[in-house]
Amino acid sequence: CSMSCCKVTEKSDEGVGGSDFCSLSGVLYGSDAFEVLAESYEFNNMEGPCLAFRRATSVLKSLPWAVRCLGATQDLPCLGQPTKKVIEEVLQCGRSFEVEELLSDERYQTFKVTVHKCVWGWTKDGEKWFCRGLRSFSDILTDHSIHLNRMQQTGFLHHGDISRAVSAAEARSLRSIIDGAVHCVTPAATVALTGGFHRGKEFGHDVDFIVTTPELGEEESLLPNVIDELKEQGILLYCNYQASTFDMRKLPNHHFEAMDDFAKCFLICGWRAGRWRGGLEGGAVDLVSPPVDRYAFALLGWTGSRQFERDLRSFARVERGMILDNHALYDKKKKEFLAASTEKDIFAHLGLEYMEPWQRNA
Ligand code: CTP
Ligand code: MN
Ligand code: MN
Ligand code: MN
Repeated sequence: CSMSCCKVTEKSDEGVGGSDFCSLSGVLYGSDAFEVLAESYEFNNMEGPCLAFRRATSVLKSLPWAVRCLGATQDLPCLGQPTKKVIEEVLQCGRSFEVEELLSDERYQTFKVTVHKCVWGWTKDGEKWFCRGLRSFSDILTDHSIHLNRMQQTGFLHHGDISRAVSAAEARSLRSIIDGAVHCVTPAATVALTGGFHRGKEFGHDVDFIVTTPELGEEESLLPNVIDELKEQGILLYCNYQASTFDMRKLPNHHFEAMDDFAKCFLICGWRAGRWRGGLEGGAVDLVSPPVDRYAFALLGWTGSRQFERDLRSFARVERGMILDNHALYDKKKKEFLAASTEKDIFAHLGLEYMEPWQRNA
């Protein structure tokens, strides 16, 4: 988000003036305003209000109509007093003073460049750096008393590569590279695009893939071999591989926001046209390799959005007495795991109509 999100979107076709910030697909300014507020809470380690603003964004984005007065939001879920205050301000004044204040706030600006999306949310360290008066990357890099962990070093080192959004076209060209590398090492393996691009997003922060083998157990050597292959092709700029710690006996998992234990790697690959390294710019890539009988759960979990996953899991828990995560679906009443080989199977177990990935952009 840049300062431009502070401008009110006008809808001239309906002849409504500056206070009409809505569009058919959602409340543009409202959404962006809430994201700024959510981030600011995130930077202050306040998860509750941060989630509340993100949830409000999802609700507003999902509306098929435009919000033109506060009364219209009366019966909507997940909109608390703080969000309504912002909506009212924007409707009345065409802007949110709270948001504009934040956008020009030194702390917010510093965290935005030093922590967010670059160093993957090391808010505690961000706090330390800020208190020491450090305000930029170079401030931090030139302060030799600061110890950066490996992830942070990578974030700083590759900042230029990973800070520019990846386009859908770039994701497609990467897909054929990953396809090629995977099939080169294991011809029978499958590659699925997941994450935001699977939901049809035009831009993303990274590209996510799930790879697996038809033969249970063969997936264990898949990622290490793919990584070697990408290295040989010379496009691997960074690799952080985590072997699988997945064990069916540890399930069901009651940790609410837990991710998963499958083998995965976070990569920075240089494949897109750009300004770096003789014209090849890098981008962040996530590869996950679940065993094939866990594939559908992994695909559902990694397709997102994060908010959609949160809601689906709480629906499973509250309405169905089931525990859903990236590994499995567990029925607490029957005390059994439910099998699924496709995402459709999982929706069916939950008694829900199937939702296409593009419908999961909550
Ligand atoms: N996810 C996960 N375990 C991880 C990382 C991510 O289950 N260790 C899931 C998240 O819940 C999310 C999905 O994978 O729903 C994709 O994550 P991410 O790439 O961060 O988000 P996108 O929706 O793809 O959006 P973008 O990358 O553009 O920010
Ligand atoms: Mn992604
Ligand atoms: Mn992301
Ligand atoms: Mn990802």
